[in-house]
Parts: sequence; structure tokens; C-alpha cells
Amino acid sequence: MCYAIPGRVIEVKDRIAVLDYFGEKKSVLNEFTTIKKGDYVYAQGGMIVDKIREKEAVETLKLWKKQFFELKKIDERLAQPIETSSSESVLEILQKANLNKELDKNELLELLRLRDEPSLKLLFQTANNIRQKQHGNACCVHGIIEFSNYCKNNCLYCGIRKDRLLKRYRMDVSEIVNVARRAVKKLGFKALVLQSGEDYWYDEEKLCEIVEKVRKLNVLIFLSVGVRSKKTFERLFDAGARAVLLRFETSNKKIFRELRPKTSFDERIGLIKFLKKTGYIIATGFLIGLPGESNEDVINNILLAKSLNADMYSFGPFIPVEGTPLEGVKPVSEELVLKIISITRLVDRNSKILVTSALETLGKNARKNGLLAGANSLMINVTPQGYKKLYELYPGRPDKDKKVEENIKETVDLLYSLGRAPTDLGL
Ligand code: 5AD
Ligand code: SF4
Repeated sequence: MCYAIPGRVIEVKDRIAVLDYFGEKKSVLNEFTTIKKGDYVYAQGGMIVDKIREKEAVETLKLWKKQFFELKKIDERLAQPIETSSSESVLEILQKANLNKELDKNELLELLRLRDEPSLKLLFQTANNIRQKQHGNACCVHGIIEFSNYCKNNCLYCGIRKDRLLKRYRMDVSEIVNVARRAVKKLGFKALVLQSGEDYWYDEEKLCEIVEKVRKLNVLIFLSVGVRSKKTFERLFDAGARAVLLRFETSNKKIFRELRPKTSFDERIGLIKFLKKTGYIIATGFLIGLPGESNEDVINNILLAKSLNADMYSFGPFIPVEGTPLEGVKPVSEELVLKIISITRLVDRNSKILVTSALETLGKNARKNGLLAGANSLMINVTPQGYKKLYELYPGRPDKDKKVEENIKETVDLLYSLGRAPTDLGL
């Protein structure tokens, strides 16, 4: 499966290497002492994860060459600025964003309140254009393994909260490593998210063992295991994990307290800051549509993620779950999520923005629309079928009954139709 393109090393200086993808240069972190100019590597999340043999790389690149430039053209065409009618003030705000000027809260709120079709189109297209100018047609494709649906917490919105009646599962270390091996060696993933509820059955030792073994497969490891001690995360970094996905869920402390009993907002934010300092790549974000959140809260959510120096934004709609205290809440619209993706792109042009699977539950074309509204990252679920059904954070996941191969094919087809290539985005 060709959804990672090898880069050729054209320069190595200290811990930074410059890679060439058909003439496009990306700077990445290099932790290999053996890598030198002329080598071929795979990079993910701005980091070299694997070195590959020249023969293999040249063959893969040959397959990609023509398509790479064709894809670029499609992306450039789809991301061209458009002209539609909108109010003077919206045009001014978008023009300001185009010029890379910082937008103030009132301007961001005005964008969030947009309802009319031409203005929305213009907002999405402006964000897509900025994404294209900033990142080219690169798109991150990560695999995700959901290895346990046990959670000690009881967040009111969540489908795997402790008190919800649900068949629970845990994959043991060897099972996780086997699934990861298949994802890397057979399916071609270069980055894997290891996700679970906050399940302390996996203690520090077990998590380190998993990370050490998965790291040997030469893949970028994202941990998404909730809050652990700083010491545990330091050890996990030493074991080879390089990224953490930890959402703060909401920037509104009062709502956080109400919806996440016995957990602490300040601790979570403190931990994210600590992880960033430790050297982890940070993916963070929030839920959209939590009851009680105002438009100001939404903008504060975006700005909080930015202030935490998020490398990747991960946010999605809250989907009400039967059998939870919030089952009766009205779901949000796809349009709102797309607006938030676009506004985030205007606020932070350098970041990666994920299209999450929760967004996909809102509409058949939601993933495509997200990618066309400023997003440039996505995940494919590689959890074994039997477990995937039980990892029910929320209902209606469109990939639930599909085999991973089918999901990969659909995703790659979608990316190609939009002119996106799975090259690394660099630092
Ligand atoms: N709808 C959407 N996302 C949810 N999550 C938990 N419950 C829901 C829900 N009902 C998200 C949280 C958490 C991530 C693992 O899943 O944001 O960070
Ligand atoms: Fe557990 Fe996370 Fe769900 Fe809260 S949101 S119950 S911490 S899995």
C-alpha cells in the first residue's frame, strides 16, 4: 500500500535533517546516528521513523513520481481562491487572515456565527487555500489501535465511562504488538496511535514494554492513554514514544468540573505543558457541542490549544450516547465543525488539523469536507474487528463494520481525489 512516500536526505545538521520529496524540502528531526546525506527514509510527524534500502525507495518513488505531480495540480486547483459575495466585514477579516495577521476574538466570533452559504464557502475556501500554501498537498495518515475500553473515569459524555453497561476488553501486550506489527509491516503505517480508556491495568511497566516493542517496528508512536504521572511519561519517552494525544476537552473550567468528575483541568493542562517540554509532539483539542458551552468558549478552546503549542489539533463533535447522562443532548451540525476547522486554520496556519472519525458520523461527505475546510490529517482504525465494535466512545462510527483494507482503500481514494499525498508535513 503506497500511502507513505520515502524522502531523500539532502542535508544532516545536528538533529535536523532536510528531506527532499520530488523537489519539495521538509526539515525533520533525526534521532538516528547512522543517517547521512543520500539515504532514503520515512518521516512522520516531522520525525524520521525509518531508514529504507535505496533499491526499495527508488522503486516506490518511481511508482509515485507521475502521480505526485498530478496530485499537486488537483490540490492547487481545488484550493484556489474563489470570489463570492459576503459582507464587507467578513471580507476584511478573511483578507487579514490571508495576510497572516492575527485575528482578535471578536473577529473569530464573527466567523463562528456565519450562517449564509456564500460566506461559509468563502471561509472554508480561505482556510483550504492557506492550508495549501503552507503545507502543500501533504496529508498525515496515522493508524489507531484501541487496545482497551476499560476506563476508571466517568465523564458524563463518554460511551466507555465506567458506569456504562458495556462488554469490556483488554488486549494483552503481545496482542497489541502483533496488531501493530501487521499495521506497520503489512498495511504500511508509519505512525500509530495507541489508545485506551484511562486503564491502570496497564501500569508503567506494561506501557513501557508495549512502547519498546512497538518502537522496534520503526514507527512513530502516539500515546493516547489519558493522564499518567510525569515520571511515567518520561519513561515512556525513553522507551520510544514521541507523541501524545491528550485533549483538554473544554477550556471552560466549570463545564470541565461538571462533566469530568474526579479529574482536574489544571492537572491536565499542566501535564500537556510538561509533555511539550519533554519533547513530545502534542496533539490536543476539545469536544464541540458540550452542553453549556458558548461561542466564546469555542473560540477559547481554539486559542487554548494554540497557546499550548499544539502540533496537531484534534477536535470533534460530541455525539450523544445512549445510557449516559447526556444522552438527550441535541447533536451539533457538520457545518459547525467545519467552521471550527476553518477558523483553527486561520488561527494557526502551521499546525496539523485532524479530521476525526466523530466528524465522519455527521455526514457521508464530512471527512472530505473537513479536508477541504483546512484539515490535513486523518486516522485509520486498525483495531481488530471484534474489539473495534466494543470501543464505543460514541455510536454511529462509519468504519465500524468495515475491514481495515476497505477503510484504507476508501481513504486513499478520497485523498487522491482531493489531490493529497501522504508525504510528511515536516517540522
Ligand atoms: N462523542 C464524541 N467524542 C467523544 N469522546 C468521548 N466521548 C465522546 C462522545 N460522546 C472523545 C473525547 C476523548 C476521546 C478519546 O474521545 O474527546 O478525548
Ligand atoms: Fe475515560 Fe476518556 Fe471516556 Fe473520560 S472521555 S470516560 S477519561 S475514555
